[in-house]
Amino acid sequence: MDIKQIFENNRNWVNDKLNKDPNYFNELSEGQSPQLLYIGCSDSRVTAEELIGANPGDAFVHRNIANMVSNLDLSAMSVINYAVAQLKVKHIVVCGHYYCGGVKAAMQSQDLGILNPWLRGIRDVYRIHRTELNAIENEEEKYKRLVELNVQEQCINVLKTAEVQLAYRSRGISVHGWVFDIHSGRLIDLEIDFAKKLEGISEIYRLGE
Ligand code: CO
Repeated sequence: MDIKQIFENNRNWVNDKLNKDPNYFNELSEGQSPQLLYIGCSDSRVTAEELIGANPGDAFVHRNIANMVSNLDLSAMSVINYAVAQLKVKHIVVCGHYYCGGVKAAMQSQDLGILNPWLRGIRDVYRIHRTELNAIENEEEKYKRLVELNVQEQCINVLKTAEVQLAYRSRGISVHGWVFDIHSGRLIDLEIDFAKKLEGISEIYRLGE
């Protein structure tokens, strides 16, 4: 992308918005009340807002390599806390994608320096689901399944936070695990049974009254 072109694009976008609604940016500046928190991969092909048809104000977004929800990641934890406790979002989505470079790297033994601790979270997902994954002979299918299982485990990590548990008990917030299939452009709902998952971990991870 040409940097000058970006500013040209921005001017065109502003004009387009103002042509449709002269008050557009005035209203946008008044505040936000998104109903959705989207946690996705930083991959340049997986453009959060565009692929879900969200407009400015619709989605609170957090992206990192391989859509990880790590409990020591101050950034992810702050985003979840703010979205749930302050913005009071109704839904939290963890969206992974097939052909994810982060997941691929975690299936290999290469030393990647600072990425090692980050990708270790995905290796942990592999270890937890080792029996299922090792039974898949086709490498591409195994890779795709690890992407799905990683989404599932990151959803569970979302459920481990106190604010999400409180929001579930007090106002029925929901968590969704999705995968974006780059090959077809389609979003796939993994239909993770959120209530069942929460029940399954609450014995150990329950926080608060
Ligand atoms: Co990715």
